Amino acid sequence: MSKVTVIGVGNVGATAADVIARNEVADEVVLLDIKEGIPEGKALDMKQASCMLSMDTKIVGTTNDYAKTADSDVVVITSGIPRKPGMTREELIGVNAGIVKSVVTSVLKYSPNAILVVISNPMDTMTYLTVKSTGLPKNRVIGMGGALDSSRFKTYLSMALGDVNLNDIEATVIGGHGDTTMIPLTRFATYKGIPVSQLLSREALDKVVADTMVGGATLTKMLGTSAWYAPGAAAAYVVETILHDQKRVIPCCVYLEGEYGQKDICIGVPVRIGRKGWEEVIDFKLNDEEKALFEKSAAAVRKTNEVLATL
Ligand code: LAC
Repeated sequence: MSKVTVIGVGNVGATAADVIARNEVADEVVLLDIKEGIPEGKALDMKQASCMLSMDTKIVGTTNDYAKTADSDVVVITSGIPRKPGMTREELIGVNAGIVKSVVTSVLKYSPNAILVVISNPMDTMTYLTVKSTGLPKNRVIGMGGALDSSRFKTYLSMALGDVNLNDIEATVIGGHGDTTMIPLTRFATYKGIPVSQLLSREALDKVVADTMVGGATLTKMLGTSAWYAPGAAAAYVVETILHDQKRVIPCCVYLEGEYGQKDICIGVPVRIGRKGWEEVIDFKLNDEEKALFEKSAAAVRKTNEVLATL
């Protein structure tokens, strides 16, 4: 029996729960939110969809009753407010830090062995806060940002290459999950094994990088709130990798102790993920230019982390 709880069932959380249930990634999915009736309503709606989707996942909705989340194997945390057009993810820290801290405490009371997947923004700082405030082994806390940012990078690369099949593209984004902190690694991006630098001009690649970095902001402007299909799918992808012990390498935000030249920070790097959480940071052997970008990104994430002490 495997059980996943999604805390916060706004657009991103509900989509994550839906993908997890639909793909039968877990035997049971619990939707929890503070807004009375919403988690129960979304769970009931999803249940009613099951017979048409031939899906057997048990779905439970609850308004803040953490007892129903007991013994979850993985808990996805999306709590907090999303950004509005024109806002950065970092601006959400004041509201979201308090929410995430209290949610994590309640989660661990009932699921002391759970692996936590953090989505709330500013995601790097919320992941750091989760590691620091709980004292959990670092491998059990995974920030989901890089998986999403890499899917946006792949999408823009596919478009630049003439709408080629997205699944033929391999591309990784590391660094912070922020408009100015993420680092799409063009040097490591390939189309069917061919380096994209052989297929696209410098200008075209620069545009792909720029579009990727503001990928979330572009959608926020279009939708009036932050995106949900890809963020929800990215969360489900990480959950599936954990529960099915798939050992996939996914760029995620994890606590570093010297890897990539950084320590006492949570930031995006490629990690191999399995049933016990993230297992190992994969070293991409950055060149000097990429190293400099990573250092700059880490410095910006640290600046946001420093705000935690003032709250
Ligand atoms: C985004 C939010 C979820 O990038 O951070 O769409």
